[in-house]
Amino acid sequence: MGIITIDGRKVEFTDEKNLLTIIRKAGIDIPTLCYHSELSTFGACRLCTVEDDRGRTFASCSEEPRDGMVIYTNTGKLKRYRKLIIELLLAAHCRDCTTCVKSGDCNLQTLAHRFGVTSVRYNNYREQKPIDFSSPSIVRDPNKCILCGNCVRVCNELQGVGALDFAFRGSEAMVMPAFDKEIAKTDCVNCGQCQIFCPTGAISIRHNREAVWEALADPDTRVIAQVAPAVRVAVGGAFGLPKGKSVMGKIVNVLHRMGFDEVYDTAFSADLTIVEESAEFLDRLKNGGKLPLLTSCCPAWVKFVGEQFPDYRENVSTCRSPQGMMSAVTKEYFRNPENSQGKKTVMVSFMPCTAKKMEAKRPNSFTNGEQDTDYVITTTEFIDMIRMTGIDFAELEPESSDIPFGFGSGGGVIFGVTGGVTEAVIRHLVPGHDKATLESIAECGVRGDDEDGLIREFSVPYGGTELNICVVSGLANARKVMEQVQSGEKNYHLIEVMACRRGCIMGGGQPRLAGDRTKAARKEGIYRADNVAVIKKCDENPMVMSLYEGFLKGKEHELLHNHEFCSS
Ligand code: FES
Repeated sequence: MGIITIDGRKVEFTDEKNLLTIIRKAGIDIPTLCYHSELSTFGACRLCTVEDDRGRTFASCSEEPRDGMVIYTNTGKLKRYRKLIIELLLAAHCRDCTTCVKSGDCNLQTLAHRFGVTSVRYNNYREQKPIDFSSPSIVRDPNKCILCGNCVRVCNELQGVGALDFAFRGSEAMVMPAFDKEIAKTDCVNCGQCQIFCPTGAISIRHNREAVWEALADPDTRVIAQVAPAVRVAVGGAFGLPKGKSVMGKIVNVLHRMGFDEVYDTAFSADLTIVEESAEFLDRLKNGGKLPLLTSCCPAWVKFVGEQFPDYRENVSTCRSPQGMMSAVTKEYFRNPENSQGKKTVMVSFMPCTAKKMEAKRPNSFTNGEQDTDYVITTTEFIDMIRMTGIDFAELEPESSDIPFGFGSGGGVIFGVTGGVTEAVIRHLVPGHDKATLESIAECGVRGDDEDGLIREFSVPYGGTELNICVVSGLANARKVMEQVQSGEKNYHLIEVMACRRGCIMGGGQPRLAGDRTKAARKEGIYRADNVAVIKKCDENPMVMSLYEGFLKGKEHELLHNHEFCSS
């Protein structure tokens, strides 16, 4: 422990890794563009610079705290310095702020307002580069890049992909994929984490909002929405409601008001996923099939394993993701003329994930030549759509999702957090529906999200066998696990992987700038939604069971499984 004097006040510190963290804990919001607590320190933007009692200035993000330090965070010199840095960044930046897709959500713009940068004295002489629209998930605009390196580090350090890097030097420096390839032609897994960490509009979500508005305006089209579990805990915060609170009822209401004919819950198809994936797992276990079974819900992970560990393609579950199952089943239901009433069906899925946009276009996401999911709207796009309508979201009364596909179990809802798929599978496999059984499953090692909990290993007894399970989130962690499996160091029966750390609640399509409290609130919101769910297990869901008895009979394989492995 030590003491640092910050702006004349004594502040205690213990094991904080840098000065910046201590200053922030003291309630001072030091500006940063290139610092993120989950990434290595880069020290490029210099906005976090502070001054000591001898007038020396240094970047607080890369300064180790020392007992007895005396520092100042807001001197006249620092204010001028920060303003100049922002002005210089803007000088080399495309300035179409009013029409930029990240307008209102851009850290550079926010800082320019905060530091009173109202004009830029320098011209931008940088050659305008083409915008990369090759990806179905993200758009890369090099003209808005400020070289903070966040995207490079997140792709490399957290996701273990390394699709982006710095090229050239000095004033020529740029961030780009190797050999300046289009991003879609690289190993990019479409997870969208780069756009979450990008402080400007240099990387943004590929939007599909206009196409959805057009479909909604067509009276001959039945527009159906499905809403993924993680979306419901990330929308409310944007409208002044408590962060992490599940607002599914309000979401259903607003979608109805927007003109959606049906609103379904992806937790319903998550229940279908559990029925199918559990059956597939038991079949592999009993009949000597390929193990470990690798989960297939996360398209970024599926692309990653397909490209980085091709020998394990057959280990990936053949189950379609909940999005894929819901879309295939719904489209099939409305193929029946009695149900369609002559209308065309358009499926719009509301997802926390940018990779779902890629999944929707994968060759195995088509049934009878028709794309199952027509459009994927991320949570961020959805919030913009609600704002566009002017509807007072916070004041909306909750409404119920529509039948027959609007009712999911608590097990389906917890798909939104890392470990949720596995926990739902265990609930399905273990007999007993009572509270004590569910609590003992929750405590078997499947939950937890601290730094060490991003890779979790545990065993569950089943039918005389100890099932070895690994739950992992973040692709760099998944790479570690797969390398251990490959070398024979580890042996698992089941591995659940979510590409984004902590699972879909922190997906690349969720609202940006989620701090530790928001992360925790989203996770709690998911578990609370499970707690209040009337049913907890997929096999208790009467809608799921009647579907198997009804029109799904004989079509389970066709509609619920992938018939070939496709990674993109
Ligand atoms: Fe410290 Fe950028 S945040 S140098």
